[in-house]
Amino acid sequence: MAKTNVLIVGSGGREHALAWKLAQSPEVEKVYVAPGNSGCAEVAECIDLDILNFRSLARWAREHQVGLVVPGAEAYYVAGIVDAFKSAEIPIFGPGKNAAELEGSKSFAKHLMRRHGIPTADFAEFEQMAAALRYLDSRAEGPVVVKADGLCAGKGVVVAGDLDEARAAVKRIMGEGEFGAAGAKIVIEEMLRGQEVTILALTDGKTIAPLASSQDHKAVLDGDRGPNTGGMGAYSPAPILTDEIMDQVVSRILVPTVHAMNEEGRRFRGLLYAGLMLTGGGPKVLEYNVRFGDPETQPVLMRLESDLFSHLLATTTGHLEGEELRWSPSPAVCVVLAAGGYPGPYAKDKVVTGLAAAGQHPDTVVFHAGARRTTQGEIVTNGGRVFGVTSRGIDLPAAVKQVYQAVEDISFEGMHYRRDIASKALTPPHL
Ligand code: AMP
Ligand code: GLY
Repeated sequence: MAKTNVLIVGSGGREHALAWKLAQSPEVEKVYVAPGNSGCAEVAECIDLDILNFRSLARWAREHQVGLVVPGAEAYYVAGIVDAFKSAEIPIFGPGKNAAELEGSKSFAKHLMRRHGIPTADFAEFEQMAAALRYLDSRAEGPVVVKADGLCAGKGVVVAGDLDEARAAVKRIMGEGEFGAAGAKIVIEEMLRGQEVTILALTDGKTIAPLASSQDHKAVLDGDRGPNTGGMGAYSPAPILTDEIMDQVVSRILVPTVHAMNEEGRRFRGLLYAGLMLTGGGPKVLEYNVRFGDPETQPVLMRLESDLFSHLLATTTGHLEGEELRWSPSPAVCVVLAAGGYPGPYAKDKVVTGLAAAGQHPDTVVFHAGARRTTQGEIVTNGGRVFGVTSRGIDLPAAVKQVYQAVEDISFEGMHYRRDIASKALTPPHL
């Protein structure tokens, strides 16, 4: 079979991991990443294109014999990148604009779950601040969770311990317009308790192929303290997700979600991300995303032994049924190295040392996120999450030990990271 070229759109750690894995495919000639980062450049060719101009991007893809496009972030899907490439007849992975609503609007996702009996936190929705505040006044006590409806780069959710905190969040989002139009509508929902897990699943709208489970670490500090981030680390598999719970996730959540989308004329093809809370009453959906998770993708793809390109293409063309996903039994752990100040304002252009040494540890890959190479050839920081150091080990303790040894090699001014990634899986809370 003729080999093909692949174009990945984006520049984070997830995109580096996708490029790293796709470059290993026997069916892939060349991987391009637009715009990419210093890590993508080690495994692919980075190109500087106007990625929000989908028509010119499609023209470029055609001229470069691209046989599959893989956008990374939700914003591209919500803006209709898939629809634009489809009309140009270039195969592109992921959901069209109307199916991307699942992530683009929390209100849409919550109503879909309510209509189809998919387990999730109970909720109310508001388009007027006064009505939202009256609703809070009518409640006896917190905690509650306040969510801006639209895309807020992971920052639109406030888990409010009491009603005053919830009122303050409502005022910031609706009164002061903290997230602009994304906060014109809000959802207020019941707080769920339990452990969070991430299930990523490929689906072509008929077949569902769950990937290995993983667990993210959203809070910036050890012990899940401090503000939420895009994710400070992840590991795969999540041992708390037993086969029995996984069966429930498939039958009560994944299958009904894919059916619901079909029924409503929004066939979902691509990567369905289910952020779940494992509650005493079974798994419940915290959120859907419509693309690979970051940093979950890094440890998950380190464990994938079968050909990612083949799986993504089959998902795109509606032939997922014939694919067999194979996983290494060895767990993988990713530790994110963040810039000083992140998730608040942070400095850029800090010189990074120790990357070569870190990459020499066995079964270890340093995925680059907010990092770039200067014209002098130095690697400098260029974002909040700078690297995702990822190691695989014979068991989870071995992977954790390995990854933190590699982390020790790397340094830049202001660098910080969590020291307890995967500790929940090493000391389960029931012990
Ligand atoms: P989201 O952007 O919807 O994933 O929310 C971000 C984070 O907020 C989640 O990963 C959870 O840690 C937390 N969260 C969201 N909804 C709830 C809820 N109903 N109960 C408890 N925590 C929640
Ligand atoms: N790690 C969380 C996300 O990708 O949304």
